[in-house]
Amino acid sequence: MKILLVGSGGREHALAWKIAASPLTSRLVMAPGNPGMAGLGELRAVKATDVPALVDLAREIAADLVVIGPEVTVEAGLADALNQAAIPCFGPVAQAGQLESSKAFTKAFTDRHGLPTSAYAVCENADQAKAALAGFQPPYVIKADGLAAGKGVVIAEDLATAHAAIDDALGGRFGAAGARVVIEEFLQGEIGSLFALCDGKDSMVFGQAQDHKRAYDGELGPNTGGMGTYSPAPVFTAELIEQTRVRLAERAFAGIAAEGAPYKGVLFVELMATADGPKLVEFNVRFGDPECQVLMLRLESDLVPYLLACANGTLAALPEPKWRDEAAICVVLAADGYPDSPLGGSIIRGAERDFGEHVVVFHAGTSRDPDGTLRAAGGRVLNVCARGATLREARDRAYAAIDRIDWPGGFHRTDIGWRALGAP
Ligand code: GLY
Repeated sequence: MKILLVGSGGREHALAWKIAASPLTSRLVMAPGNPGMAGLGELRAVKATDVPALVDLAREIAADLVVIGPEVTVEAGLADALNQAAIPCFGPVAQAGQLESSKAFTKAFTDRHGLPTSAYAVCENADQAKAALAGFQPPYVIKADGLAAGKGVVIAEDLATAHAAIDDALGGRFGAAGARVVIEEFLQGEIGSLFALCDGKDSMVFGQAQDHKRAYDGELGPNTGGMGTYSPAPVFTAELIEQTRVRLAERAFAGIAAEGAPYKGVLFVELMATADGPKLVEFNVRFGDPECQVLMLRLESDLVPYLLACANGTLAALPEPKWRDEAAICVVLAADGYPDSPLGGSIIRGAERDFGEHVVVFHAGTSRDPDGTLRAAGGRVLNVCARGATLREARDRAYAAIDRIDWPGGFHRTDIGWRALGAP
């Protein structure tokens, strides 16, 4: 099969690694990809939001399947354009993509279709938003409505911080994504990431993980796109998985189909495990980053048949995926200054050595000089991932590999997996 994979982050490197390993893959083209992905197939310098150029590329290579990695590509409408061109696509149409691209849409959707979530208020201006805070208890959760690369969420301990977050979001920091803000009740509980595939009618659970969103150890510092993950996460009891599947994933798939946009792809359900069961924190319409990295390390089944079945409406014919009976961990190495103003250009040495069969380093924001020198070129730069018989073994392997990477311009958390293992 000829496969076009869209995106350039750690998630896409992990997907490419698994797709390239499939005996079904005869050609893998990645647009635009990153330096770490280069050895897995062909890179083409097409932006992940350039829908006409991506459709042209899919036609040029006679793609049997296009796999959408990032949410910006969903929002740009690539699946819609590929549907018009009759090219199979893993990834939802833009209307369904509103489940991620608009938090206000999603909150109203949960009301329409009976999905459990937090209380909320959608506000169009700062006066309205500040007045709405009176209906909530601290800490205040302030979210920009649209896509903000993981930076649009502030959890404010006091009113002054909440007011500043409202002014920031509505003052244009996130462009059109901050035209509205959503204020939410702070949910008490433990957070988790559950993934479900859907082919427009049938669906299945496709793995679980736990992410660490704050920048620094001890869950301190600003919110990020994710500083590390591990899987399996003990929070996911069989009961929680089943409740999440029935109350959140299946209701979402049924609801969005009833609204005229059957869902084809993966739905990332970010949930809070509360005393009343799972409550939706937010949906994402793609694999998590860096959750995808640990899922791909643990996935024993071939990924490609699942991606293709979502596109072609044949998921019911596939068995449940098989997962290695091992734990996996991913530690994100980020550039100094991330998430607000990451410093680019610093040299990274030793990241591409052979760390042994249990360790894989996925690239995210990297660039390569003509002489081969690897440099930081983004906020989250590398994902050091490891497998082990236990999570402790996986964690020890990942941190041992990090010790061998020479990158003075970056930082990482040292406590990934603490909820399962205790603080280091
Ligand atoms: N790790 C969270 C996300 O992918 O949005």
